[in-house]
Amino acid sequence: MSTLAGKHLVLGLSGGIAAYKSAELCRALVKAGATVQVVMTQAAEQFMTAVTLQALSGRPVYTSQWDPREANNMAHINLSREADAIVVAPASADFMSKLLHGGADELLSLMCLARPLDSVPLIVAPAMNREMWSNPATQRNVAQLRADGVHVLDVGQGDQACGETGDGRMLEAEEILQELEAFFTPKLLAGKSVLVTAGPTYEAIDPVRGITNLSSGKMGFAIARAAQMAGAQVTLVAGPVHLPTPRGVGRVNVQSAQQMQHAVMQHVERAHVFIATAAVADWRPAQAADQKIKKDGSGQTPQLAFVENPDILATVAQSSRALSGQLFCVGFAAESHDLLAHATAKRQRKGVPLLVGNIGPATFGQDDNALLLVDEKGARELPHASKQALAFDLVADIARRLT
Ligand code: C5P
Repeated sequence: MSTLAGKHLVLGLSGGIAAYKSAELCRALVKAGATVQVVMTQAAEQFMTAVTLQALSGRPVYTSQWDPREANNMAHINLSREADAIVVAPASADFMSKLLHGGADELLSLMCLARPLDSVPLIVAPAMNREMWSNPATQRNVAQLRADGVHVLDVGQGDQACGETGDGRMLEAEEILQELEAFFTPKLLAGKSVLVTAGPTYEAIDPVRGITNLSSGKMGFAIARAAQMAGAQVTLVAGPVHLPTPRGVGRVNVQSAQQMQHAVMQHVERAHVFIATAAVADWRPAQAADQKIKKDGSGQTPQLAFVENPDILATVAQSSRALSGQLFCVGFAAESHDLLAHATAKRQRKGVPLLVGNIGPATFGQDDNALLLVDEKGARELPHASKQALAFDLVADIARRLT
């Protein structure tokens, strides 16, 4: 379930071509379970119609401080008091300047000024031409708005509607949604650094062939996202998977187990938590051929010799920081049967305080899963749910275990 479920958001649109993305954002917020009250400036109405946003939000849109629908004629007070947050997307350069100076000559800025500072956060998604964005006036305004407690989101980079290319695009609707979900997530891992491995590894036989497995990386990516949303600084060491990087997560792409181990060793010194979800290949070809191994027509098959890969988790779990309790290690076990027995044995073999068991064939590639959390005291089941929901629960569980 999204952290936006049950939240009431005021979605404000100021004037900018990025307003078309706000229609999608509105829809996504409603889908995530939020109620959305749209407020538009006159400039925003040049780009989108109130009818569109009314249809998507399921509520009449407010465009004027003189709206006679409010019995007391104080839309700016009533709307802001009901909100869990006000989200202005797009926030034009002019609108941010107005916010900064406490301008209040139309409903949206008036409402932002009138909001109770300690209970109604203001989140803005800037959108403008790259020169406008990099102008010292705008940068000054952004810095001061942040100092005033406004949550100013980053801007995107790329082609702009004006034909120029650079910084200043409004984030995509999905990115803003992720930012808002993160905003409403309790910061259980604030100040912590979390390292996650995810996906399969790929062990080369020759330049065009290799050995891998069916791990999709979804569980590890969901954990990385949940940890980032919980306020951690997250590094995700990912084997070859085609999944988008969760917002705010630092990603290191690797192929082989040896590369994964190298990346982990580089980052683990700074980590407080290490979560090994990767399905690391147990063996690799002893010697990867430099050139493609050719079929020679004789019917003879190549003779492959294997060597064992390093056990990344077991190695990290034996490090001095792990043994002294500065680094909390979590392992995963994908089993086909007798989950409790295998997970319990694996926890001891790997030397980790927490081992998470799941049924391999039931999880590989799927969007949902069920987990068994095994520690020194026993086992606790996280019943069948989406991998993202399980990741939030697992992160909350790990946070409770940190001293
Ligand atoms: O031994 P097994 O592969 O079943 O152990 C699974 C756990 O160990 C997972 O957490 C996995 O990420 C980790 N592992 C590792 N390096 C290996 C093999 C497994 O980190 N070479």
